[in-house]
Amino acid sequence: MHAMLRMHGVAHTYPSGTVALGTVDIDIEAGEFVSIIGPSGCGKSTLLRLIAGLEAPTSGTISRDLTRPSKSPIAFVFQQPTLMPWTSVLANVRLPLDLEGVATRTAEPLARRALARVGIEDFAQALPRELSGGMQMRASIARALVTEPSLLLMDEPFGALDEITRGRLDRELLTVWAEQRLTAVFVTHSLHEAVFLSNRVLVMTPRPGQIAGVLTVNEPHPRDESFRLSTRFADLCARLSHMLVAAGSA
Ligand SMILES: Nc1ncnc2c1ncn2[C@@H]1O[C@H](COP(=O)(O)OP(=O)(O)OP(=O)(O)O)[C@@H](O)[C@H]1O
Ligand SMILES: [Mg+2]
Repeated sequence: MHAMLRMHGVAHTYPSGTVALGTVDIDIEAGEFVSIIGPSGCGKSTLLRLIAGLEAPTSGTISRDLTRPSKSPIAFVFQQPTLMPWTSVLANVRLPLDLEGVATRTAEPLARRALARVGIEDFAQALPRELSGGMQMRASIARALVTEPSLLLMDEPFGALDEITRGRLDRELLTVWAEQRLTAVFVTHSLHEAVFLSNRVLVMTPRPGQIAGVLTVNEPHPRDESFRLSTRFADLCARLSHMLVAAGSA
């Protein structure tokens, strides 16, 4: 195992003067699934944007060791599906490859494979509005996976979905994460989802967010519903809940 991502003394203040993120030190190992949980406005999305390099930190250093040859080693799944409404699901998923200049005859089978990975290959020619909310999130994840990233950043991807759909997508996400040997950083407001998915859960304080605590989930993968129904799961959720209260975040 090596640190894929190392954030040292990272803080961020927006030009408006809002101190969005206090000082954080985070190391993430290759292949880890790490969740971030904390109250609204504490800087979780800012943290993801800093990891992605979409924003430069006002202080501290971020080093990334993205070993795969992919041109787009970091992929981002936003809270909203953000699909182009006027074109097919397939064209949406192909977009990152089009932007890299990959020829259509190469890109199209890759996009179809990404759709198959998330189980919506039959909807390649549909328009986004013809899909359910859960299927649109699947399409967004397919679009993120199409470039074979090493690091997958997800900002509350399933927050708008009903609990049953969310549970199913959580399980599917773990399958893809394991198959693709991804490193994942996942923002959520759900402590159950964080415990179910993660190797580690980082608990943040209210803004300006700092890391108040880390919950390690020593449960082997693959995980299934029997884990969700176990007393170990209930105990871990209770511990995480206490940590959120102690951080002033609940
Ligand atoms: N582009 C921006 N310019 C100025 N301030 C911003 C910008 N983006 C976020 N902020 C501010 O930074 C703080 C942290 O915002 P951020 O979006 O990172 O929080 P969050 O933890 O993701 O919240 P939520 O859970 O509601 O999504 C907030 O006070 C927000 O108003
Ligand atoms: Mg956010």
